[in-house]
Amino acid sequence: MEIERISLTIEKDLLKELDAFIRASHYSSRSEAIRDALREFLAERKMRAALSGEQLGVLVMIYDHDQTGLSEKLLDIQHEAGEILSTSIHWHLDRRNCLEAMVVRGEAEKIKNLVENLEALRGVRQVKLIPIKK
Ligand code: NI
Repeated sequence: MEIERISLTIEKDLLKELDAFIRASHYSSRSEAIRDALREFLAERKMRAALSGEQLGVLVMIYDHDQTGLSEKLLDIQHEAGEILSTSIHWHLDRRNCLEAMVVRGEAEKIKNLVENLEALRGVRQVKLIPIKK
């Protein structure tokens, strides 16, 4: 397998967390852990891209409560999503982080659009779509 060397920029806190994880796990290097994380990222994106037709799912996201203007933008996006979004719960995880879980149902394209709009927001740390088989 051909290997290529790349360099990347990363927040110090995130790198610290990665290193702590590596020390506590079976990973022997940052590269190995990052390669696995990247594979998982791509697999999830592929799974999402393949969704079609009517879908039911749960969308979970974690975001930074302190990010200026983010709460308003989230509300706008949720209002625009209209009928595909039903119940949502909000949990103030700690001083800084909010977790929001939403039940989504409807056309796959609309759900994917919603996920992408949420991911694009500055201050949104994680968005996970879990499709549910009916
Ligand atoms: Ni909160």
